Amino acid sequence: MKISVFGLGYVGAVSVGCLSDDGHTVIGVDPNNTKVDMLNRGQSPIVEDAIGSLLKAGRQEGRISATDNAQLAVDRSDISLVCVGTPSRSNGSLDLKYVEAVCTEIGTAIKDKPARHNIVMRSTMLPGSMRETVIPVLEAVSGKSAGRDFSISNNPEFLREGTAVFDYRNPPKTVIGEIQPGDADMLASIYAHLDAPMIRTSIETAEMVKYVDNVWHALKVGFANEIGNIAKQLGIDGQEVMEIFCKDEKLNLSSYYLRPGFAFGGSCLPKDLRALTYKAARMDIDVPILNSILPSNVGQIERVLDTIQRSGARKIGVLGFSFKSGTDDLRESPVVELIERLMGKGFELLIYDQYVNVAKLIGANRDYILNAIPHISRIMVDDVAAITDNSELIVIGNGSAEFADILEKVTATQQVLDLVGVAKPAQAVANYNGVGW
Ligand SMILES: NC(=O)c1ccc[n+]([C@@H]2O[C@H](COP(=O)([O-])OP(=O)(O)OC[C@H]3O[C@@H](n4cnc5c(N)ncnc54)[C@H](O)[C@@H]3O)[C@@H](O)[C@H]2O)c1
Repeated sequence: MKISVFGLGYVGAVSVGCLSDDGHTVIGVDPNNTKVDMLNRGQSPIVEDAIGSLLKAGRQEGRISATDNAQLAVDRSDISLVCVGTPSRSNGSLDLKYVEAVCTEIGTAIKDKPARHNIVMRSTMLPGSMRETVIPVLEAVSGKSAGRDFSISNNPEFLREGTAVFDYRNPPKTVIGEIQPGDADMLASIYAHLDAPMIRTSIETAEMVKYVDNVWHALKVGFANEIGNIAKQLGIDGQEVMEIFCKDEKLNLSSYYLRPGFAFGGSCLPKDLRALTYKAARMDIDVPILNSILPSNVGQIERVLDTIQRSGARKIGVLGFSFKSGTDDLRESPVVELIERLMGKGFELLIYDQYVNVAKLIGANRDYILNAIPHISRIMVDDVAAITDNSELIVIGNGSAEFADILEKVTATQQVLDLVGVAKPAQAVANYNGVGW
C-alpha cells in the first residue's frame, strides 16, 4: 500500500519505519526540514531503540521518502496517517493548532484528487475533536463530504517511548473509530497481521479510549506511590506489598470493579478506606488520591439524586437495595443512603429486593433493619409487580438478573434509571437512562 505519514515525531517516525518494514511504500511529511532531510538520508529523526535500522533499510530499499509538500504526499498515497503533536496550552486545554493546520493542508490536497482518499487521525485528541474540528476543516477546505468523498477515521496509538517499535508490533489492542461501518477497511488491513484484538467503534469512543488509558496509567503510578509512602513509614517494603497486590489477577489486576455505575458500599470498602487514610494522616503522609476516593463516591450518590429530582417523578420504585445482588447485607449500602435521602425529600417510595425480606432475616441484618433503618422496612414490597404497578420512575439498584427484562414490564411513560447496567437495551430507548452510559 502507498501510505503518507504526517508528522515525523515519535509516533510518525515509528509508523514510517514499521510500515515500511511490513512492505508498504511510505512517504513522511513534516514542515521541519531537518527531519525530512534525515529521513531522506536514511537516518532516524528520533532517538528510539530499533528504529534506526528499520528506517535505514526502508530508505535503501526505496520504500521510504520524505517531503515537506503535503500535496505531493497525498497525490502519491492512498491513505494518510496524521501523527502531529497535540500539546497543552498553558491553562491545560488541548491545543489543536497543528491538527487544524494539517487538516487544511490535506483538505487542499484532496480537493482535486479524483480518487477517494483515506485520512486517519492518530494524534491524541479529546472526544468531539474529530466531529467539531477535523471533519469540518477537511470538508470546508476540500469542498468534499466525509464518508462519501473521503474516508476519515481515528486510530489512537498506544506505544511507549523506549519500546516504541516493540509496542507497535505487539499492541495491547488496535482501536479504530469510524463514522460509518466499513469506512476504515483499508486502515484495518494494515494491521490485519498483528496478534491483538481489533476493536472498531465510533470515532468519539476511540478518541475517549486513548485518554482513559493514559489517565488510568497515571492513576496507577500515583496509587502505587501513595501505598509505598504509607508502607515505608510503617517499616514495610512497599514494593513487596505491591508485588503481592499484583499477583491477584482476579480482583486487583482485572476488569472487576472497572464498570461505570453506582457508588460502592458494603461493610468493608468504606470502613477500610477510612482507616487507612486516617492512619496516613496521623503519620503526616499526604495521600490525595486515596483521600479523594470517598468524596468521589459520595459525589456519585449526589449525581443520581440530582438525576431523580430532575426527572419530575414523585413516585419512585427501587429494585434491589442490598449493596450487592445475592446478599442481604444493607450496611453502608449506597442504595439505602439514596432511599433515605429521597424519603427525606418527600418522594413516595416503594422498594423491593428478593434477598432482603424482614421475615426471613436473621442476626445482624435483621437487627440493623429493625433498629437502624426501621423506616426502610415499612416501604418494602414482595414482588417486582408491586413496583412496576405503582411507580413513575423505577431505579435499578443492583445487578439481580430478575431486573434484566424490566423494560418489557413498564409502560412508555414510566422511566427506568439503571444504576448497574443490568437492563441496558441494545439500542437507545427513550424512557431508559443509565448512570455512565
Ligand atoms: N510520544 C508518544 O509516546 C505518544 C504515544 C501515543 C500517542 N501520542 C500522540 O501522538 C501525537 C504525536 O506525538 P509525538 O510524540 O509523535 O509528537 P512530536 O511532537 O514528537 O512530533 C510531532 C511532529 O509533527 C510535526 N508537524 C507539525 N505540524 C505538521 C504539519 N502540518 N504537517 C506535518 N507534520 C507536522 C512536527 O514538526 C513534529 O515533527 C500526539 O497527539 C501525542 O499525544 C504520542
